Amino acid sequence: MAPSNKPAKSKGMTLPNLDSAVDPTRIAGLLEESRQYLATIFATVHDGILVIDAETHTIVDANPRAVELIGCSREKIIGVTCHNFVCPADTGNCPITDLGQTVDSSKRTLLKANGEVIPITKTVASITLRGRLHLVEIFLDISGWERTEESLKESEDRCRDLFENANDLIQSVDPKGHFLYVNRAWKETMGYTDEEIARLRVFDIIAPTCQDHCLTIFQRVMSGESIRRVEVQFVAKDGRQIDLEGSVNCNFVDGKPVATRNIFRDITERKLVEKEREEWNRTLERKVEEKTRHLKEAQAKLIQSEKMAALSEVISGASHELNNPLAGILGAIQLLRRSTLSKPIEPALMDEIDVLENIESAATRCQKIVEDLIRFSTQARCFFTQVDINEVLRDTLGAMVAQFTQTAITVSWQPNPALPRIEGDFVKLFEVFANVLQNAASAMPDGGTIEVATRLLKAYAKPPQLVVTIRDTGCGIPAHNLGKIFDPFFTTKPVGKGPGLGLTVSYGIVKKHNGDIEVKSNVGKGAKVTITLPLRQPSS
Ligand SMILES: Nc1ncnc2c1ncn2[C@@H]1O[C@H](COP(=O)(O)OP(=O)(O)OP(=O)(O)O)[C@@H](O)[C@H]1O
Ligand SMILES: [Mg+2]
Repeated sequence: MAPSNKPAKSKGMTLPNLDSAVDPTRIAGLLEESRQYLATIFATVHDGILVIDAETHTIVDANPRAVELIGCSREKIIGVTCHNFVCPADTGNCPITDLGQTVDSSKRTLLKANGEVIPITKTVASITLRGRLHLVEIFLDISGWERTEESLKESEDRCRDLFENANDLIQSVDPKGHFLYVNRAWKETMGYTDEEIARLRVFDIIAPTCQDHCLTIFQRVMSGESIRRVEVQFVAKDGRQIDLEGSVNCNFVDGKPVATRNIFRDITERKLVEKEREEWNRTLERKVEEKTRHLKEAQAKLIQSEKMAALSEVISGASHELNNPLAGILGAIQLLRRSTLSKPIEPALMDEIDVLENIESAATRCQKIVEDLIRFSTQARCFFTQVDINEVLRDTLGAMVAQFTQTAITVSWQPNPALPRIEGDFVKLFEVFANVLQNAASAMPDGGTIEVATRLLKAYAKPPQLVVTIRDTGCGIPAHNLGKIFDPFFTTKPVGKGPGLGLTVSYGIVKKHNGDIEVKSNVGKGAKVTITLPLRQPSS
């Protein structure tokens, strides 16, 4: 065979090249070098090496590592049949020499001198030494690896158990969005089978409203960001929307994204409760607002009625004080007139009569005002009879129809035929409706509509009441005037057009009927007057 510069290869052995030099000293040197080379490897290699006579199966050499692994002295190993240690097979059943098998990195066992059996991987090569066939058995103790493998498997099982029994939804997705792993809770919540999951991509289960948001998150995670808190919505197989909250990040290998790690908590119920709570809060706020408004209205009413009661007392006293001197003045005027008229008529006397008439007319006007004030005050008396409110309204409207036609005012009124009679003062209620209708007409100098409606109000645990509403489309009342309209002499009419007693008197009359009068208005849109009257008077 031609000599080669390449190292000779024989199952894991590299020999130095023996070239064709003929110098015997050099050859001896090279051989010694080669022997030392092999002896060093033999002595220091971490694998155990046994050289076995192929015919007798006796061990002819063992390296220190083999001795260490077998666990007895080299002397006790050399000359012993190999089956005692490395291949515990029956005589005549040697896999190499008898069965013709090759052994290359095969998993086998080593029988130690103390009887212990350890796992090894073994490679066997054949070699001819001094004309006899030998087997070189090289073996590696893999008991440490097996332990590592076992603990690795245990740890993997623990992790799987943890994931599979977690209540949170755990998923892992590859960069293309395919699912690599989903846990039991995920499958139970989403309702997909393993086959369906294998076909799905993560964006197939994300709610349409959440797609853009999730795409941004996915891109951020793929570029290395770890998102500690994210809210997403998935759609389960049956169409239910699942609200989830969790964390998302990605596993990178060699700088490339491999698999996302997502752990989500199902917060659908929590969201529902939050939504319900928000709705409750809104309802509560609305109710509080409503109650506050009612309270304010009631407070305003109370202030108004207290103010009116105080005014009524003052006015009652003052009007009585004024009534007597006024009656005296009018009586004196009568006397003066009679005595003047008994004298012969002269121009100077005519002037006196004119003066007297002026004084009388002013005093009569004053007396009318005082009468109005008395009607407002508690002193005014009412004569209650059974009254048909429809009839009172019909008479009042009838008396004003000419005025309404003149000012292009349309009246809308369908008398409610199912109204019971009430105990009331026909004349005084006529006056109330006339005052209110007159005010409506005054608020619509260029025409408009007056709507009159009547109804029976039945409230739980309260006696029924009759309600009359008179609504107009006039100028309305500014908010700052609403609190003053019942005050005596409050008017927005020009001087001499109205003393501002219409609503004052109406208030007094309605109160005398144990009823209520209320005015609501929007400037520019009109006003609505509501008069509530009880069916019966307490005294009767
Ligand atoms: N329907 C209404 N539309 C607009 N303003 C109104 C209406 N009703 C009452 N008012 C306002 O209330 C004020 C007081 O009304 P009230 O009837 O007491 O007196 P008046 O109408 O001014 O005078 P009087 O009735 O004594 O002739 C009115 O001047 C007006 O400003
Ligand atoms: Mg008036």
